[in-house]
Formats: sequence, C-alpha cells, structure tokens
Amino acid sequence: MARPGLGEPGPPSLPPAGPLPPRPPGQPALGFGSGIHNCIGSPLARLEAQAALTELVRRLDNPRLVEDPPPYRRNAVLRGPRHLAVAYDGLKR
Ligand code: HEM
Repeated sequence: MARPGLGEPGPPSLPPAGPLPPRPPGQPALGFGSGIHNCIGSPLARLEAQAALTELVRRLDNPRLVEDPPPYRRNAVLRGPRHLAVAYDGLKR
C-alpha cells in the first residue's frame, strides 16, 4: 500500500502525486524485505505511519467500517484484512 519516496517534494514543475494505484491481483504485499538488504528505514517508516494514521483517524468525522467484519486473508502466516474500507461524513480540522 505504501511506496517509499512518494511523499517527497519533487521539482515545482511536477504535478502533485496522486493516489496509489491499486496493487495488481497476485502481486505480494509491499513489505520491508528480509535478509541482508532488509529495509534500514523500517523503524522510521513505522513511526511515520503510526503518526499519520493516528492523525487521520482523529480527523475523520463518524468513521465506520463499510463491511463489518472486513474480509480476512485465508493465510495463517500473513494475517489481517484483505482491505479495510471506511466510510466517513467529513474531515475535521
Ligand atoms: C513504508 C515505507 C518503506 C517501505 C515499504 C520500504 C521498503 C523497503 C524494501 C522492501 C527494501 C529492501 C529492498 C531489497 O530487498 O533490495 C528496502 C531497503 C532500504 N530502505 Fe526502505 N522502505 C520504506 C521506508 C524507508 C525509509 C523511511 C528509509 C530511510 C529513512 C529507507 C531506507 C532504506 C534503505 C537504505 C534500504 C537499503 C538497505 C540495504 O540495501 O541494505 N526505507 N526498503
């Protein structure tokens, strides 16, 4: 779901980055890699994601799950919802 470098400001002539494209079916989820080239920035990325998601949740007006419970992966190792659609009425400042 996340792409490193997407939020970096580019040259002023470039249009702002748009939403992430949907992941093609069958393509594995983006992670931090493993082994000797495991992502060295993963602690910072996790901290940033935590701060961003906390602020997003604070700003959503009346957030609610579109599907409750959401559809879960059929995988005992990689657990979690396949997607988590959230509806909301507006954004608070
Ligand atoms: C959501 C955010 C991020 C994701 C999903 C991500 C993902 C990855 C992945 C998959 C790799 C391994 C690439 C490979 O196997 O060759 C990697 C490597 C790396 N990442 Fe990240 N990354 C993120 C954020 C960051 C940040 C914030 C930094 C630095 C501040 C960073 C610095 C690096 C570096 C230096 C490597 C190379 C490590 C090596 O080759 O030994 N990454 N990242």
